[in-house]
Amino acid sequence: MSDQPLRLALIGCGGIARRHVLAMKDLQQRGLGGFEITAVCDANVENAQELAELLNQELGHTPTVYTHHAELLDREPLDGADLCLPHGLHHSIATDCMEAGVHVLCEKPIGVTIKAGRRMAEAAERTGRILSIAVPHRRQPGQRTVHWLLNQSGLIGEPLTFFHHYSRPPEARTDSGPLPPRVLWRRDRLMSGGGMTLDSGFHYCDSMRYFLGDVEKVYAEMREIRSGQVRSVQEHPEDTIFVTLTFKSGVVGNWAWSVAAPGQSHCNVVFHGSKGSLEDTTDSRFRIFHLFERKPGQRESGRVTLDDGTTYTLAQVEEMYRASLSPEEAQRLFPGGADDGFAIEIWEFIELLQGKRTRPEVDAWEGLRSLALGDAIYESAYTGDVVYVEDVLTGKRGTFQAPIDEHWGL
Ligand SMILES: NC(=O)c1ccc[n+]([C@@H]2O[C@H](COP(=O)([O-])OP(=O)(O)OC[C@H]3O[C@@H](n4cnc5c(N)ncnc54)[C@H](O)[C@@H]3O)[C@@H](O)[C@H]2O)c1
Repeated sequence: MSDQPLRLALIGCGGIARRHVLAMKDLQQRGLGGFEITAVCDANVENAQELAELLNQELGHTPTVYTHHAELLDREPLDGADLCLPHGLHHSIATDCMEAGVHVLCEKPIGVTIKAGRRMAEAAERTGRILSIAVPHRRQPGQRTVHWLLNQSGLIGEPLTFFHHYSRPPEARTDSGPLPPRVLWRRDRLMSGGGMTLDSGFHYCDSMRYFLGDVEKVYAEMREIRSGQVRSVQEHPEDTIFVTLTFKSGVVGNWAWSVAAPGQSHCNVVFHGSKGSLEDTTDSRFRIFHLFERKPGQRESGRVTLDDGTTYTLAQVEEMYRASLSPEEAQRLFPGGADDGFAIEIWEFIELLQGKRTRPEVDAWEGLRSLALGDAIYESAYTGDVVYVEDVLTGKRGTFQAPIDEHWGL
């Protein structure tokens, strides 16, 4: 392995790319380096230039600016690319990168549909390139602790059920001008693959699988009620969902989420095991399940209650969890003491490229399984059927995705 820093490109320089830059700065401050962003690429040259400036300001990097990824791949010697693009562009640009010999870290969800994601997984196998799906939430100390609590500690016994209910009023609309592009593509199912269930909701899909294993079947109802009318998922992106999930392990759970519920906000997240429960008590819009707004250093909180009345805070459980880790495991999971999922997922990618790890925690196939859960939820809401996730994963069912696949020629 040469001592030269790895040469990386950031492709897609919008909202989340800026968050990736801050995560890279977090790594740099911990002495975790050995990489440089040598190029940025965005179809919107202003976005690319602004990100180049941010990289210069925060990391001291001076990337070359490109507006087309083909030109970037043609001209720039690269080891890896970090893709922060609208979902409909993931499969083509990730595949082009891998065909050009470049390893890829791709933002969630893996692709716009199962067929798109499968194409990416196959490209990774064909080219022998790394394809890692960026999923920061399961890497945070809070979710790692909950995973340990549910799967290893035995503290609350065998997982049985969970309830995840979150509702809040719609945000005030500013209808004074055209919607910014970063909102527009999210409203276009052909570009986004769905609505909020596949956007930030994808994190829930991944976290639920991380905590409790694969889901066997789902039944879902979706509505768009912000307009004042109750409109079905066929007509408009959802703002309200109700999902019943049956896991292969037998666990049953209920996920209800509305961003258009007038009146009082409400949040209730609780897991029940055969000996007790875990309640999420984080007093913030970020919770154990969804940490997008979490800043490095902010902590989740929770309460474990056992049948005999004993209680533990999540911080106490985290202490037990951390005590169970060997120094090597602790360094692998929280490199340099990092506690920001974005920084940790980027560091995993760097170590994969350096040959210090063998495979991504969330590789293409793992990413595809989480996407299949999200698409099964749409399939159920769209058809009114109970849907088996395996049928969506294998392509046996794809009514909801069919027009999206057709649009992209998949
Ligand atoms: N992990 C998280 O918590 C999280 C949060 C937000 C977004 N995301 C994911 O990040 C990705 C990007 O989301 P975002 O919020 O940054 O979107 P965004 O709209 O803010 O940014 C997308 C950028 O891609 C650029 N772009 C569009 N077409 C392009 C092309 N052909 N070539 C190069 N650039 C092009 C746009 O100009 C824009 O700058 C999505 O996959 C999204 O799901 C993840």
